Amino acid sequence: MTDAPLPRPTPVPAFAPALEAIDVAKTFRPDSGGEPVEVLHGISLTVTPGEMVSVVGPSGSGKSTLLYCLAGLERPSRGGVRIGGVDTTALSARRLAQLRRSSIGFVFQSYNLIPSLTAAQNVALPARLARRAVAPDEVVEALAAVGLAELADAKPPSMSGGQQQRVAIARALFARPGILFADEPTGALDAAAGRVVLDLLRGVRDAGSAVLMVTHDLESAARADRAIVIRDGRVHQELAAPTAEQLFDAVLAAR
Ligand SMILES: Nc1ncnc2c1ncn2[C@@H]1O[C@H](COP(=O)(O)OP(=O)(O)OP(=O)(O)O)[C@@H](O)[C@H]1O
Ligand SMILES: [Mg+2]
Repeated sequence: MTDAPLPRPTPVPAFAPALEAIDVAKTFRPDSGGEPVEVLHGISLTVTPGEMVSVVGPSGSGKSTLLYCLAGLERPSRGGVRIGGVDTTALSARRLAQLRRSSIGFVFQSYNLIPSLTAAQNVALPARLARRAVAPDEVVEALAAVGLAELADAKPPSMSGGQQQRVAIARALFARPGILFADEPTGALDAAAGRVVLDLLRGVRDAGSAVLMVTHDLESAARADRAIVIRDGRVHQELAAPTAEQLFDAVLAAR
């Protein structure tokens, strides 16, 4: 009797963090020709797929600058950034733009929607710019995922802030990015609308993407799996499964 051949082992994909930053620094050189100012002094951090991380810290500590450097919207002055294993600091501007469209989502405090386009057109715009064919059903599905299918033909000025932010999230998720960055995503919203947006971001995490969110709202920050406290351009503290009270103390200590 011959043994049946063993089934082929399923190849295990090599583990790649969704985001890996190594010693990221950023120096701004004033247009007016003054002294260069180093705003980030060497930040290292890792975010794994399916993990939600919040970034908190005093105003001016460098949170937005960090997020922009990690998301490829700014070039770090030093250090490395890997998104899904790809070193973004080594890419040309064109390749970086391609990677941003395919693998990175970004949500801003101010939504950044195009007011003259409908919700559906806003969601489809990045894909159209990437010359990807977009099926209308796909767009309605993306809007349905944020609870706004019925507003597909509405334009941003006729929508509430919370609705506009949900369109912005649908747009950011349309290409199914491995990581979603959000800078103060609830900053312009009332508490109820903010909770809806935060629930959506947690849903993104539950679906397997990584989420990195900057926020002043420590209740929101406490809903992440981990929080990174930034002080004066450096990682001051990291807290796993933080409570809002722990974050309050940590941010106070970072002032
Ligand atoms: N383009 C720029 N040119 C020069 N300086 C800048 C630039 N962008 C940010 N900065 C400076 O870098 C520092 C950090 O700014 P950043 O916006 O990252 O802080 P933040 O932690 O996001 O603050 P906030 O909580 O108020 O949003 C500030 O001193 C800011 O003035
Ligand atoms: Mg900021």
